[in-house]
Amino acid sequence: MQAKITALGTYVPERIVDNHYFESIIDTNDEWIVSRTGIRTRRFASEFEYTTHLCAAAVENLVEENNVVLDDVDFIIVATVTPDQIMPSVASQVQEKLGLRHTGAIDIAAACAGFAYGIILANGLIAAGTHRKVLVFGAETLSKFTNFEDRTSCILFGDGAGVVLVEATPKGNILAGVTGSQGDGGKDLYMSHMRKQINGQDVITDNKIHQNGRAVFKWAVNTVSAQMPLLAGRAGLTLNDIDWFIPHSANLRIIETLCSQSGFPLEKTLESITLFGNTSSASIPLALHRGLREGKVKKGDKLMLIGFGGGLVYAGVVLEWDV
Ligand code: UT7
Repeated sequence: MQAKITALGTYVPERIVDNHYFESIIDTNDEWIVSRTGIRTRRFASEFEYTTHLCAAAVENLVEENNVVLDDVDFIIVATVTPDQIMPSVASQVQEKLGLRHTGAIDIAAACAGFAYGIILANGLIAAGTHRKVLVFGAETLSKFTNFEDRTSCILFGDGAGVVLVEATPKGNILAGVTGSQGDGGKDLYMSHMRKQINGQDVITDNKIHQNGRAVFKWAVNTVSAQMPLLAGRAGLTLNDIDWFIPHSANLRIIETLCSQSGFPLEKTLESITLFGNTSSASIPLALHRGLREGKVKKGDKLMLIGFGGGLVYAGVVLEWDV
């Protein structure tokens, strides 16, 4: 059997945070943020909303918008670097919320490449014949791990979640995949998080994301622009055959540079950065959903998804959209 993506759902928290919000807490302005990143707004989860809640809302949206049954899901993968806690996993919490009784459940940490990694793993589980129906989430509550005193990073991040259902079918739609890691760049983008009880309250401490933005920018554009034609080639295609390129939405300037370096038309890219900021593993499904809702992505379109981020890691897939 082969793997096929059969449904997509997303969710973003209600609270919209515009760039002016940051003018009151750090030395910045709307003009700098828009021109350097493309970001106009992002969403922040409420105090009581964690990554598990975002996943549950995204899967609710998947069920609402698609005619699918989830009772026989047999594996859940949640790509996140902002889990509610390290243990139990977000995936197990989602399993409990969905009332699924016969499913495996794991979280994977591949930062902004997590969603593409999740699809590649789901593809492998189905191709191996061990599983038939896998939910793959990319979900983050980055606002809970942001250093709001660091003006170079705090303006970037937002919260959100996306999920796809990957099912076993005779003819799949995942045409190719690629993964890579460059651990010596780990020092350029990292975070640690611990929780402790203070006065009976569960408090997150040391919740800071650290980023050397210029170094990551340079690595991302060089690595991803080199991988784009190679990944298309693995699917037996060239970049000319790709209808929509959906890179991780880290910065609009990264997307523009990827297009100028690879010769790919900018108007054939989908992004979620302008409305939702950098949502790490959620950025690609959010961009894809936006492209579907705007009527851009059509059945039969060839999509190239490439995530990149903390690790440093990257992962990409080519899909033929068939939902
Ligand atoms: O999602 C995972 C992967 N992450 C990425 O791919 C992120 C990659 N990096 C980036 O997106 C960009 O590097 C940033 C958006 C983080 C920063 O943009 P930049 O154009 O690389 O800015 P910079 O760090 O080179 O800083 C340029 C100037 C500096 O001032 P000086 O030294 O030239 O006087 C900064 O201090 O902009 C200043 N600056 C700011 N000014 C106003 C930095 N942050 C801000 C700010 N508001 N928020």
